Amino acid sequence: MKLVPKHIAMIMDGNGRWAKKRLLPRAVGHVKGAANVRSVVQACTDQGVDYLTLFAFSTENWRRPEEEVSTLMDLFIQYLDKEVNEMKEAGIRFRIIGDRSAFTPTLQDRILRAEQETSHNSKLHLTIAANYGGKWDILNATHLWAVANPGVPVSSLEPAALDAYLSTAGLPDPDLLIRTGGESRMSNFLLWQMAYTELYFTDTFWPEFGASELESVIEWFGKRVRRFGKTDEQVLS
Ligand code: IPE
Ligand code: IPE
Ligand code: MG
Repeated sequence: MKLVPKHIAMIMDGNGRWAKKRLLPRAVGHVKGAANVRSVVQACTDQGVDYLTLFAFSTENWRRPEEEVSTLMDLFIQYLDKEVNEMKEAGIRFRIIGDRSAFTPTLQDRILRAEQETSHNSKLHLTIAANYGGKWDILNATHLWAVANPGVPVSSLEPAALDAYLSTAGLPDPDLLIRTGGESRMSNFLLWQMAYTELYFTDTFWPEFGASELESVIEWFGKRVRRFGKTDEQVLS
């Protein structure tokens, strides 16, 4: 029987280089990349994945030229406008993780609407990480914990208690991370949540990542022995 990861996280990298290779502006790469989200979501549904978390914009991506940042924000709004009805019908539950207070009121409003309108769905939990940083998430969770537990000494804080205050509260930790675009790094994605995630790095640029490669990565995942600190013998018995 095929072992399908319950939760896949993806770092959608390589839009700019995809465009550069074709002598096109980076913005075209982002348009192609945004369009590819839909087919990857479909491919994950087809494979029986329950949770998909996509890294769309990091807390460090504000450092890019203003024009590129604004292209990415526009694409985000367009994506929401175009996909919400589809998601509603396809049974997709949509969520955003990250500090949304930095977004324009229009974008914040669209996000809230998409989250509310899909909140009863559960076929696929689609989470987009936008203005997200793993360090932000951990610090933010610690602050929220402190506010919720006045007078409780910090020394009593346990990992499981922090889980409840992370932006991913309620989502299982990712079983598999796929990063497209050839880099082998985390770039401040789900640092806490991926302590035991299987990591897969592919040279394929995000706009070209599709169903058949996803299937072979899932096959690769099925061959991993997840020991969580134990020995082979313990795990296999
Ligand atoms: C990923 O593609 C999209 C975002 C980070 C928003 P890049 O824009 O990082 O593409 P490369 O890495 O420059 O090719
Ligand atoms: C990671 O890609 C962030 C997203 C895909 C949203 P980057 O392109 O920003 O990563 P670095 O800067 O190469 O590490
Ligand atoms: Mg990149």
